[in-house]
Amino acid sequence: MAVKFYKSENQVPLEMHKVRVIQKLQLLPVEERMRAIQDAGNNTFLLQNNDIYMDMLTDSGVNAMSDLQTAAMMQADDSYAGSETFNRVKRAVKEVFGTDNVLPTHQGRACENILAETYVKPGQVVIMNFHFTTTKAHITRVGGEVIEVVNRKGLEAVSDDPFKGDFDLDELCATIEKYGPENVAFVRIEAGTNLIGGQPVSLENMLAVADICHRYGVMSVLDASLLQDNVYFMKQREAQCKYMNTREIYHLLAAKCDIVYFSARKLGFARGGIITSVDPKYTDQMLEYIPLYEGFLTYGGMDVRAMEALAQGLYESLDMEYINQGPEFIAYLVDELDRYGVPVVKPAGGLGAHLNCSAFLPDMPHDQYPAAAVAAALYIAGGIRGMERGTVSEQRNPDGTERFAELELLRLAVPRRVYTLSQIKYVADRVKWVWDNRQLIGGLKWTKEPKVLRFFTGRMKQIGHWQEELAAKFREDFGDSL
Ligand code: F0G
Repeated sequence: MAVKFYKSENQVPLEMHKVRVIQKLQLLPVEERMRAIQDAGNNTFLLQNNDIYMDMLTDSGVNAMSDLQTAAMMQADDSYAGSETFNRVKRAVKEVFGTDNVLPTHQGRACENILAETYVKPGQVVIMNFHFTTTKAHITRVGGEVIEVVNRKGLEAVSDDPFKGDFDLDELCATIEKYGPENVAFVRIEAGTNLIGGQPVSLENMLAVADICHRYGVMSVLDASLLQDNVYFMKQREAQCKYMNTREIYHLLAAKCDIVYFSARKLGFARGGIITSVDPKYTDQMLEYIPLYEGFLTYGGMDVRAMEALAQGLYESLDMEYINQGPEFIAYLVDELDRYGVPVVKPAGGLGAHLNCSAFLPDMPHDQYPAAAVAAALYIAGGIRGMERGTVSEQRNPDGTERFAELELLRLAVPRRVYTLSQIKYVADRVKWVWDNRQLIGGLKWTKEPKVLRFFTGRMKQIGHWQEELAAKFREDFGDSL
């Protein structure tokens, strides 16, 4: 926290920006909120934005742009080939990562598609600290298998470890030896981790992973989508990073890892995706897929205006006064909830606050989907849209049995530079009410279950009538308040 308050009890995160464009929000009455979530099949992805007060589904593509970003959008060069806009993106990537070779894609998962197509052969494995949904889906689609070697603390909801996203380095080596380096398509470092609570990876651990890959002759790939938050935590929590500037950290990582890719919906406050490498060998190997799947090599499916915003946004992702805001608001929310006794993932990570729904509803079996049930309850209680990151977000095993998630989480993402602290306080208040009324929350069952990425479009219904009881209790407690 850069600015200290005179009275320490007033210490709160302070924004180093002001809001100059606003968007109207509405909050429906509780009975309408209950109907809306039921109409959406108890899937927060299927809610309509007009029915939502706090949209905490994701931090992807919903971060607020700066004045400089919107200004930059006006100078976009929309020529099909050789666009000057792409040169500006390349210059920004060079400034942030120090790399010269840049492939554009329409978003992060498109980078993953191309990585999987180029490098993963049937029967091969991809080793990573932890998987992300779209990453895993692309790797398994081409016949590969994902193996996770996150350190044990990463899977404990509560721990005092500052870097819960770290690899277990011994397990990484043992896994490479078990399968043989020739059967490892690549090692992927996700920094920070998404599905285990936005937890960061230390610089020391990332550099050690890159060295191990080098020793075994295995390719290393950094997913930098959440790197901005991760760099914040490195600077806060890791001694060797305290006196490094953000640019030095990004550069060091890009120099050590063979390939870096990211979703510009997160890193860069914009939209799109980028694959980059120091060595042109890698981008050359992937290059032919860009015109095939994405678009020509100088736009890759991105809108040129979004590319201008991305270029400017990348420069902003070096600025600690911008990158502070997300993690500090998240820490504020996590602390508020933790002090009240609500089970949350600790320490606070990036991306969002994460409710630990196994502890929220300890008696509910995984196959009644506790994290999805709490998501529905919180929407009913406050018009707050979170995202299930538990068993519903997993894919079933090949034999059709359910794969229970290690952690049943409800993620409350905090889009960067979007919400005010009073709105975050409102979220804390409504979560506390849901926690105090958790005995009313019941399970869910599928009514429509897609085979791939089922959490996006699957539909569920309540077991019994607990949602009507929850809405009635809200009315009783809050009277005519929204
Ligand atoms: N890698 C990570 C670590 C991500 O968090 C995401 C997206 C992707 C890759 C894929 O990028 O969405 O641009 O295709 N995470 C979003 C989320 C969807 O809500 O957490 P994308």
